[in-house]
Amino acid sequence: MTNLIDKIEKSKLPKHIAIIMDGNGRWAKQRQQERVFGHENGVVAVKETVEAAAELGIKYLTLYAFSTENWNRPKEEVDALMSLLVKTINQETKTLNDNNIRLTAIGDLQSLEKETYDELMTAINETSNNSKMTLILALSYSSKWEITNAMKMIAEKIKNNEIQPDQINQELISSYLTTSNIPDPEMLIRTSGEYRISNFLLWQIAYSELYFTPKLWPDFRKEDLYLAILDYQSRERRFGLISEQLNNLFN
Ligand code: FPP
Repeated sequence: MTNLIDKIEKSKLPKHIAIIMDGNGRWAKQRQQERVFGHENGVVAVKETVEAAAELGIKYLTLYAFSTENWNRPKEEVDALMSLLVKTINQETKTLNDNNIRLTAIGDLQSLEKETYDELMTAINETSNNSKMTLILALSYSSKWEITNAMKMIAEKIKNNEIQPDQINQELISSYLTTSNIPDPEMLIRTSGEYRISNFLLWQIAYSELYFTPKLWPDFRKEDLYLAILDYQSRERRFGLISEQLNNLFN
């Protein structure tokens, strides 16, 4: 039997995959455990996915690790998630370096607790020269926060006469988002059988292929990423054009 990985066309890989990692709480509940147990096991899935993406040659992988709205969860869960993040980032910096993976983050990073922020910045600095893949953690991120923030910065420039209103175009808006140096994801994956975007990369996923799987995040493994990529490769991406126009463009 051919392995799933061998069916993937290496010349047609998405450059950027974004993932909404969902279902940790339900995974723990199914096992009569605290929600934190689900997050801890979610780290196993994070490691598998990062490894699989890097091995395949994916250039950018964005993981939605903590949303602006997640701050409203019970304090003990927020605290546990933050210390899990600090611990994981700290433990994995060497592996990221060994595998030539650059870590970066998007979101309202100033709102993170000092320890989390410092640990994150250390790992970002220590991996900044790596070039095989960029791993982007979305932390205290929400798309509406990001777009509002971009609007404020543009408004300030207009007020100071540094930008004229007729200079505002899609490129300019993109350059004020936290993803300014990152290409838009060709593909967005959400686990746990929920069909929502949950305030994630709303601007950037305008043309992304959406892939939903019932798997709960702690159960997500390399093969699940391969299945998602195979599904992506079976689709025709038209960007608003018709098939014949695409054939003319690419043949
Ligand atoms: C969603 O499941 C998951 C989160 C809010 C946190 C994701 C965090 C991790 C996987 C661990 C650390 C990550 C890194 C990058 C080191 P949920 O709690 O909403 O699950 P539920 O919908 O079943 O309640």
